[in-house]
Amino acid sequence: MVEGARADWVWSVERLRAGRPPPPLRGPPPPTGEDLARVSISTPLKAKLMKLFLDTADVAVIKDMVPTGMVDGVTTNPSLIAKSGRNIAEVIAEICALVEGPISAEAVSLDFETMVKEGDKLAAIAPNVVVKLPLTWDGLRACRVFTDKGIKTNVTLCFSAAQALLAAKAGATFVSPFVGRLEDNGADGIALLEEIRVLYDVHGFETQILAASLRNVAHVAAAAVAGSDAATFGADTFKALVKHPLTDRGLDAFVADWAKTGQSIL
Ligand code: G3P
Repeated sequence: MVEGARADWVWSVERLRAGRPPPPLRGPPPPTGEDLARVSISTPLKAKLMKLFLDTADVAVIKDMVPTGMVDGVTTNPSLIAKSGRNIAEVIAEICALVEGPISAEAVSLDFETMVKEGDKLAAIAPNVVVKLPLTWDGLRACRVFTDKGIKTNVTLCFSAAQALLAAKAGATFVSPFVGRLEDNGADGIALLEEIRVLYDVHGFETQILAASLRNVAHVAAAAVAGSDAATFGADTFKALVKHPLTDRGLDAFVADWAKTGQSIL
């Protein structure tokens, strides 16, 4: 027997097929204009902050950027570890000690069993390690294992909304769509972030969108506007976020005018 909401739906569809008007909606009455005004004034739509991550395995770079107070986490990948020239366990441990937030460390095997073993080893380095896994069937299976154990995951190398759907269904903490690499191949990386945002919101998935492969300030701003929960990029882009020629020009004028007053605030 069909029950509850499903029964309502079947009933509505049958009425529509029979050319009769849809039934009135059940449940509480729709909100009035007054209700909506009250909600919009007192209730923030999303009481959460966008996280900014550094995409590097270079400890010196991380040390340099941490004092900005803006580094919410760090992402690494096998290429970045190779570039650092260091042992993965050592460098991840050092990064975890420098930054309290999520630190992504990537499993490198392609088969499920070995991926799980590698992920377990990486997760044991520090409580803030996030196990990074590729968007493959094996990676998604491994993701479910870590999620069920309460270990955070980052499903990486995401290039489509369909892949992002699978990452969410595997219980990923983060999904990493690669904006720059899509653009390298003539596709619209920011549009992908927008699609995933809609997909996750419509279905209520809690997986966080971690915009990755961001190469410049415009990418970061667009990723933020698209509703990404987090963004990761290199230190050069991080430093460039604060820069604007009109800020420099305005500051020069303020300093020059202030000097003319001969005053001192202190
Ligand atoms: O976190 C993924 C990111 O490092 C990839 O960036 O510039 O190599 O495409 P990129």
